Formats: sequence, C-alpha cells, structure tokens
Amino acid sequence: KEIYLNGFAGVLPKVNIDLNKLEMAAQQAMSSKAFAYIAGGAGNEDTLRGNRQAFEKHKIVPRMLRDVGQRDTSVELFGKKLPSPFLLAPVGVLEMVHPEADVAVARAASKLDVPYIFSNQASRPMEECAAAMHQGHRWFQLYWSKSNDLVASFVQRAERCGCSALVVTLDTTLLGWRTRDLDIAYLPFLEGKGIAQYTSDPVFQKMLDLPDDAPDMKRRVTYQSLRGLVSMVKHYPGGSFFSKLLSGKPIKAVRTFVSTYSNPCTTWDDLKFLRSITSLPILLKGILHPDDARKALDHGVDGVVVSNHGGRQVDGAIATLDALPGIANVVNKKIPILLDSGVRGGADVFKALALGATAVCIGRPYVYGLALAGEGGVTEVLRNFMTDFDLTLGLSGFKSIAEITPACLAGGPS
Ligand code: FNR
Repeated sequence: KEIYLNGFAGVLPKVNIDLNKLEMAAQQAMSSKAFAYIAGGAGNEDTLRGNRQAFEKHKIVPRMLRDVGQRDTSVELFGKKLPSPFLLAPVGVLEMVHPEADVAVARAASKLDVPYIFSNQASRPMEECAAAMHQGHRWFQLYWSKSNDLVASFVQRAERCGCSALVVTLDTTLLGWRTRDLDIAYLPFLEGKGIAQYTSDPVFQKMLDLPDDAPDMKRRVTYQSLRGLVSMVKHYPGGSFFSKLLSGKPIKAVRTFVSTYSNPCTTWDDLKFLRSITSLPILLKGILHPDDARKALDHGVDGVVVSNHGGRQVDGAIATLDALPGIANVVNKKIPILLDSGVRGGADVFKALALGATAVCIGRPYVYGLALAGEGGVTEVLRNFMTDFDLTLGLSGFKSIAEITPACLAGGPS
C-alpha cells in the first residue's frame, strides 16, 4: 500500500522490487570483482541454479473464504519472538559493496527487529555492529579456526556483544572452486578485505606479534590451509605473484588469517570443545544429509541450518529445499531448522516453512540492497520480503505460520 501511495505522489522505491532486476541494478553499482565474488557460485553453478529450480518445482495450492483479515507472521526462535520467519545470513566482505558495510546492515536489521548473523569474515568488528543495534537480535557465525584460543576468543566476544546464538559454518573448511573469482584471479581476502573480525581480536593480534618461526605460533597454527591456498593461487594467472606476496611481511595479517581461518580436520567429536566454552545455543550451518542432522541431534546441537552456502561450495550439491524434507523428518521438530540458499521472495519462505523449516536466512538480496542504497536499501529489501510473505500467507488462506504444513503444497498429504 505504502509503495502505491508513494507512487501516487511521484516517489518511487529506492531499490527494485523484482529481485532479478535488483541483482542487475546492483551489478551496475559495484565493481566487476565485487559482483563476481558476491553473485558467483562454485563450478558450473549447477547448485546455484538448482536452488532456484527446487523452489520453482513446488507449488502452493491456495485456499479460499477462510477469513484472513488478521494475520500473524511472527515466529519464536530460542525464546525470542521474531516479526517474520527470516534472519539475515552471515555474509562476509561487505565493504566491497558499501563503505558502511556490516554496520549499515546491523542498523537496518535492528530497526525491523530481524536477527542479523554477524559473519566471521565481516568487514567491521562485531562490537561496532552490536553497538549499532541496541537491543536488536544478533547471532555470531563462526568459522572453526585451527586455533582453539582464537575460537574461544571469538565466542567470548560474541557473548559480550549480546549475541544470542552461535552458528558454526561447516561447509567451508576449504574454499570452493569458485569459477567467476578464478577467472579474474581475485580473492578479496588477499587484499585484506573481510578480515576485520580477526584483526580486531586480541588473540589474533598476539599471533601477529609472534615471529614467524616462534614455536608457539607453530603449535597453534598449522600451515595446511596456507599450502592449500598457495597451490590454489598457482591456478590463477599471476599466481606466482600472489605466492610472492604471501611471503611478504606487510601482509602478515592476511597470511595468518589464511593459515588459521578454518580447519578441514574438524570432526563431530570437536563439538565437545565448543559446548564446553559456551552456553549459547549452537547451530550447525551446512547440513544437507539426514544422517548429519541425526548426528547433530545426538551431539546435543540446538539447531541446524540447511544450507549449501548459496551454491558457492560443492557444485552439484543437492538444492536445500530438496534436502529439507528428509532432514525435517529426522529432526521431528526437536530443534529449529533454518534454511538458506536461493530464497528469493515470500512464496519461497512459505514453501520452506511448508516443508519443515522454522525460518529462513536471506543472503545475496540484502547485499544488493546495501550496494544500491546502504542501510535504506537493506531496509527496503527486508520490508519487501516481509510484505510479500504476509500477502502470500493471507492469499493462500492462512492466518499464521503454525497453519503452514506440507499439505499446503501440491502433492503434499491432504
Ligand atoms: C556468504 N555466505 C557466508 N556464510 C557464512 O557462514 N559466513 C560467511 O562469511 C559467508 N560469506 C558469504 C559471502 C557472500 C558474498 C555470499 C553470497 C555468501 C553464505 C551465506 O551465509 C548464505 O548461506 C547464502 O548467501 C545463502 O544463499 P543466498 O540467499 O545468497 O542465495
């Protein structure tokens, strides 16, 4: 209504309503490197497309004459009431698209009471974002570092910042084969972008103070992922340039980040350590197999995020909406299930909820809003999602989220 009335007065929306057009407009507003990094997926981008195809495949069957005048889109998550069933997914390196980066997103999220999951790869320290959010809901996303001291420090900072849950991303222990980035031989981290969460950390700073050959440094930091990165950059045209750059003193922070940020040797047993250092709810992000959902339950995890990282990790991986029913079946409502990757409107949110999600996370669309109009752009994208979902709910014949079941979709149980 507000958009139509504004239009009557000659005021048009700040950002495109159609999310495909939003992406095209954002592409014009950002550098080609930034767009490749943000929009791209892994490999042939089959999973990037597959996420969308899975949403397109399912159909809502609207019901009529059911008095939907008063609707409630709220949902409860870990004892907190959210106005709508969405959160903002953790997205790193936002300084590539807007100077205010994560802080602008934090402000928009807090004003609309939408939880924001701070990225471990954020361009701004979580303390700054938390300060911009007042009472707004925030969570912290952790990449499981090789250094337990660093993990503990991040978790402590998150607790101090008022984060109310910890999301551990499991699908990025190695960086996926991201063809658009490889084509232009570009990785933002090598420019030191997206590592402010690290450089603002006291434990990370101590690591920088250590000489390269300090035994302590050697103990805490294995160089496995550095070796992985060096072999990867050799595939880039100009790879030898980066290899040289990686050995230069001035980029010690980048090098230390690269060598510690994630650990492909992590196993289910390691969850004990995380559990021992925090009482925050722990969610595992990147769950796609029902057996992993079962393991998550067995390990006392508090929630799972069904995610393929927006198609950026394993190309050919199952679409998240296709993975959801099997996981929902195993989880059997014991813990919340979030879903992301390819959510592009109210109907997608409805479909994910029908197939067993408690809420969804939104990734690239809010980044495009940020690129086009900063905080105001993120706000508009979020409000559009909220309104679109409310309309989908009502026009489908439902008043509340509790009424959304598999029976709302074609082919579901009647
Ligand atoms: C991400 N994602 C991500 N996930 C995470 O756990 N930590 C991170 O730092 C990032 N960074 C990141 C950067 C960019 C540019 C993108 C596009 C994505 C993944 C993100 O949380 C989420 O899983 C996907 O973005 C969801 O898919 P859509 O909505 O972008 O299709």
